[in-house]
Amino acid sequence: MTTREEREQELERAGYNLFNVPGPRVLVDLLTDSGTGAMSSEQWAGLQRGDESYAGSASWFRFRDAVQELFPFEHVIPTHQGRAAEKILFSALGGEGRTIPNNTHFDTTRANVEFSGAEALDLPVSAALVPSTLHPFKGNMDVDALRRVLAEADVPVVFVTVTNNSGGGQPVSIENLRAVREACDAAGVPLFLDACRFAENAWFVKLREDGYADTPVADIVREMASLADGMTMSAKKDPLGNIGGWLALNDDGLAEQCRNLLILTEGFPTYGGMAGRDMDALAQGLREAVDEDYLRYRIRSTAYLGEALDRAGIPVVLPVGGHAVYIDARAFLPQIPPLEYPGQALAVALYLEGGIRGCEIGTVMFGRQPDGSEQPAAMDLVRLAIPRRTYTQSHVDYVIEVCEYVAERAAELRGLEIVEQPPVLRHFTARFAPLRS
Ligand SMILES: Cc1ncc(COP(=O)(O)O)c(C=O)c1O
Repeated sequence: MTTREEREQELERAGYNLFNVPGPRVLVDLLTDSGTGAMSSEQWAGLQRGDESYAGSASWFRFRDAVQELFPFEHVIPTHQGRAAEKILFSALGGEGRTIPNNTHFDTTRANVEFSGAEALDLPVSAALVPSTLHPFKGNMDVDALRRVLAEADVPVVFVTVTNNSGGGQPVSIENLRAVREACDAAGVPLFLDACRFAENAWFVKLREDGYADTPVADIVREMASLADGMTMSAKKDPLGNIGGWLALNDDGLAEQCRNLLILTEGFPTYGGMAGRDMDALAQGLREAVDEDYLRYRIRSTAYLGEALDRAGIPVVLPVGGHAVYIDARAFLPQIPPLEYPGQALAVALYLEGGIRGCEIGTVMFGRQPDGSEQPAAMDLVRLAIPRRTYTQSHVDYVIEVCEYVAERAAELRGLEIVEQPPVLRHFTARFAPLRS
């Protein structure tokens, strides 16, 4: 617990960037669902079984088999987290003059594509850009737009992110994935999944897509994998790990190129960036991730928060996503223009009033263009991400009360300006100053 006055000082010290606030000064930490979940007793048992042989450890084989059980790609390349898989893949496939489409690139994916010299292009369906529009699969890709891009641009790979994190944690239907696959086949271009939240996506397919109500979630995951040529993965999300990731693919030549890059920066191909014990914890986490009782609890508890905010008149992305509730800060704070960062202003207010840490997903995160200019992002959201198996309903009830309290004072909130920023991924380290009028 901290007092409001302490949090005021903390914000000043942190340059109004919640990434700079120490964890012990946060009461309910909804900054991310990445690596912040609680491991199960069986995962802790896995840690104890960890085999730390440098090459070919028993843990590696258990990990590889658990990955291939759900994602039967030929090659599994372990990395320390998702962005390492992205860096390796885009080093091999990216480069000047190329375009890499996605339903919506997440921050590190976009940054790694752009770092390679390629263009990162978002092609969400139009419903994805209107927070209040109800649509069962707002994570879908605009397939007509994809076909046009495939006809005109030099596209080395198409990505689909499941669920679509930047777009509100929204799922992608199997029907849409199949249509994307057909467009890729027609153009002779491979399709990869950014599969961080594959199990949540599959659960939404089971609930919402015709013909899947009786299909086990694990089978839906395998069907998603069967439509792709490879995947990047942050194992800090659905696989219930605190660290880890992988790149998996079928193409032998590309896999060899990627393994060579892996050895350069991550490690030997049977551990990549992970300890043996991490790989054992993930092998178990992958089995738990597709447990349908767990998924029912997980998705309902996120919806509980979203539905309560919606009932209180707080604008949220609807329907509520899988791993997070996204407040539409542009609608919540209409007096703050996008270039004065309404999402950042709201995230700061939630911390100041209640010690809750959320994450701006808007113009701070995506507004800066590769040429250094600035434009409003498609949406200005504040993501309240729910760590897996971590908080109780009473914590969430407290979050609801704080959001309602801030909503009553919304008209008083003002925007911010950036006073210091790095050239890429600025949201992690930028410093801000409040605007007073
Ligand atoms: C959709 C998506 N892709 C990639 C990543 C990057 O993963 P990591 O943080 O493990 O590097 C994230 C992390 O939040 C993500 O949500």
